[in-house]
Amino acid sequence: MTTVLATTGLSVHFGGVRAVDQVDVVVEEGQLVGLIGPNGAGKTTFVDAITGFVRYTGHAELDGRDLEGLPPHARARRGLARTWQSTELFDDLTVRENLMVAAERPPWLSLAAELVGRPAGDDAATDEVLELLELGSLADAMPSELTQGQRKLVGVARAVAMQPRLLCLDEPAAGLDTRESGELGRQLRQIADAGTATLLIDHDMGLVLTICDRIVVLEFGKVIASGPPDEVRRNPLVVKAYLGGAQAVDPGTAFEERQAGEVSA
Ligand SMILES: Nc1ncnc2c1ncn2[C@@H]1O[C@H](COP(=O)(O)OP(=O)(O)O)[C@@H](O)[C@H]1O
Ligand SMILES: [Mg+2]
Repeated sequence: MTTVLATTGLSVHFGGVRAVDQVDVVVEEGQLVGLIGPNGAGKTTFVDAITGFVRYTGHAELDGRDLEGLPPHARARRGLARTWQSTELFDDLTVRENLMVAAERPPWLSLAAELVGRPAGDDAATDEVLELLELGSLADAMPSELTQGQRKLVGVARAVAMQPRLLCLDEPAAGLDTRESGELGRQLRQIADAGTATLLIDHDMGLVLTICDRIVVLEFGKVIASGPPDEVRRNPLVVKAYLGGAQAVDPGTAFEERQAGEVSA
């Protein structure tokens, strides 16, 4: 196994708030790792830190090289791609063009493209990614013609088109219905199986428990559990974090769903 991402003692403080507190996470090549936890647990901040958007203490290594001091575009060039909780697409470009901007990085959009990933690929690669995410029929559509769910998928496709070393997805299934989210899960599993290390943040416990190799659970910035889905779902601290907290994340549906043995397909 080749380690792609390794963080040790990664911490982010906002004033007195420890948004991320001594977090160790490893993602290997071909692995899909779920990062879950209640609202405000620090999931997005963790991704902001490794992609260079907030300052942190501790270490983050990509392919064995410390990322210390590198700004977002330099991290993107090393192979860190991310999506955002609210997907921003270029509204005057078609779906295909949105992917090509990310993949080819023409000078006039280089900064924007660098913020989301490194340049790679060509037209054929772009169309391959669109097919993979079943967006082929929407290639020539404008973002304004898409549903919220489709916009999300284009955001994921754009990150995948960069052929990143580590793909970080921040709630890609939010706004998708159960069928769409099951479909996305199948596609993410394929992307990981093809070798891409993937870090998946999502509230859909059915999705995360079904497709991930390992899950890391954050609460108040700290890792409270990590391991294979079967182990994590039975961990008393995890059950408490989801069922006992005032800010529990979809506790009812998430846990009823898994207890009923349902997946999000
Ligand atoms: N830019 C910021 N300034 C101050 N506090 C922040 C900022 N971003 C996030 N936080 C705080 O950090 C904590 C973790 O937030 P976040 O990473 O967004 O959680 P999650 O993605 O798990 O819901 C929360 O307490 C949140 O209020
Ligand atoms: Mg978040």
